[in-house]
Amino acid sequence: MTLTQATSETVRLLRFDRVQRCAHWVNAALFGVLMTTAIPLYFGSFFGLVWPRHLIAQIHLWTGVALPVPIIVSLLGPWGASMRRDVRRINMWTRQEMRWMKTLGETPLVADKFNPGQKLNAIFVGASIVIMLATGSMLQWFRFFPVPWREGATFVHDVMSFAIFVVVFGHIVMALTHRGSLRSIFTGWVSESWAAKHAPAWLTEEKTNPAGND
Ligand code: HEM
Repeated sequence: MTLTQATSETVRLLRFDRVQRCAHWVNAALFGVLMTTAIPLYFGSFFGLVWPRHLIAQIHLWTGVALPVPIIVSLLGPWGASMRRDVRRINMWTRQEMRWMKTLGETPLVADKFNPGQKLNAIFVGASIVIMLATGSMLQWFRFFPVPWREGATFVHDVMSFAIFVVVFGHIVMALTHRGSLRSIFTGWVSESWAAKHAPAWLTEEKTNPAGND
């Protein structure tokens, strides 16, 4: 049951359960460490005066190896039902959502739990984990790969890291300017009025099928 009466006036809905919130914050922390350590690795900057480059590279490498763990753990096992349901949602694109995306929000949209922009962000994060892990592994264990692959991996790792900085910055700006969404990734809950405005299709679904049974 994800719909509850908080007070006599507000009905609230569970948008993210504890497993999803933990996965989000552990994933964010890992991205934070990777992005922070990426700066001196790329620029070879003044950070080297405080911490030796080798140490920074080791922190970057092993944080990178751990990157898929929160997502995998949160998807597996009986605790991952909400996460799995949301992954299915993110993979499902209606014609209306495609049109909304192509027209940059100029056509009508009865939004699902996540709007197309949020879905794209989640897809980008998932893809970047796979790509950065693959290319980072080639940078580290380079002797197993031919030279052209290693050159390609370095290029893709650098270009993707630039894209990650842009997307993460955009994600943080969107979060700070959408307080209802931001609160839900801390507490789990949104109000019914928030859902009616930002996710009406999901609200209808929750009212007709609150346990999320497919
Ligand atoms: C948020 C994700 C990530 C970002 C933004 C990022 C960014 C970077 C950047 C900018 C560099 C410097 C490349 C250069 O000098 O041209 C680098 C190096 C490297 N990255 Fe990543 N990376 C990420 C994830 C990963 C992952 C998942 C791994 C996993 C294996 C990894 C492994 C490495 C390795 C081994 C190096 C070379 C370090 C060295 O020079 O000794 N990275 N990364």
